Amino acid sequence: MEIIETIDKTRKIIAKAKSAGKKIGFVPTMGALHAGHLSLVDRARRDNDVVVVSIFVNPLQFGPREDFHKYPRTVKNDFALLRGHCDMVFAPASREMFPDDYSTRVEVKGPDDVLCARSRPGHFAGVATVVAKLFGIVSPDRAYFGQKDAQQAVIIRKMVRDLNFPVEVVMCPTIRESDGLAMSSRNAYLSGRQRGEAVVLFQGLKSAERMVAAGQKDALKIRRALLDLLRRTPSARVDYVEIVDKHSLRPVRSIAKEALLCMAVWIGKTRLIDNIELKIM
Ligand code: PAF
Repeated sequence: MEIIETIDKTRKIIAKAKSAGKKIGFVPTMGALHAGHLSLVDRARRDNDVVVVSIFVNPLQFGPREDFHKYPRTVKNDFALLRGHCDMVFAPASREMFPDDYSTRVEVKGPDDVLCARSRPGHFAGVATVVAKLFGIVSPDRAYFGQKDAQQAVIIRKMVRDLNFPVEVVMCPTIRESDGLAMSSRNAYLSGRQRGEAVVLFQGLKSAERMVAAGQKDALKIRRALLDLLRRTPSARVDYVEIVDKHSLRPVRSIAKEALLCMAVWIGKTRLIDNIELKIM
């Protein structure tokens, strides 16, 4: 596994692999890797000849009062975890990606003004910008994203379509802890008690799924039941709970065939997100 810090060297290695007819699979990350990331890397391994992982804590996607400075940075551990799973890690310094005169932003209008975008203005432009840059550097044939970040995936898919990137965006299932909590680098912020209570997100999703299986299609009623459950959890504070169309991310009143139930909940000072697809059988 090669660890590369510069754009030039990354490009040269990729160009050589591509000229030998190799397919490139790419997993962009911000490090603090866990089994969820590894599942994306392993899927990329199955589908491609060369697997590239990037580790870059992207300053553009953090708001001024967010956790950029305290975001977990565990690079040595990340490299150790990735050994044997990928061929190359692109781990640039901030200056390499965003030199002083850097000034371009990519904004994907539409899906970037709902759900998480309401409480994290500018976040998705930051994500789209860095992913566009990474696609320009790595030139992957396929790029892998987790379902947990459903809004991010919708935005990246749209960016790929709108800007004609020759990249296939592959969605992979959310990987969960044994009690159902979605794996996230931010889970590391939770205290013991908060970690216990954080499972309420998954319990809420599952109870909504049961309501739908029992015939409930009214999005308002499902949402209310979920809000009640969350309100009974002492360390939980709801940012949003929404049932939306899975493509447009706009709220639906009634679940016709399928919809996406998405939520963002503060557990203490940690904001967690999760979602589940609700399907009428
Ligand atoms: O999902 C993430 O970890 C980040 O948003 C990404 C896609 C690596 C961009 O910084």
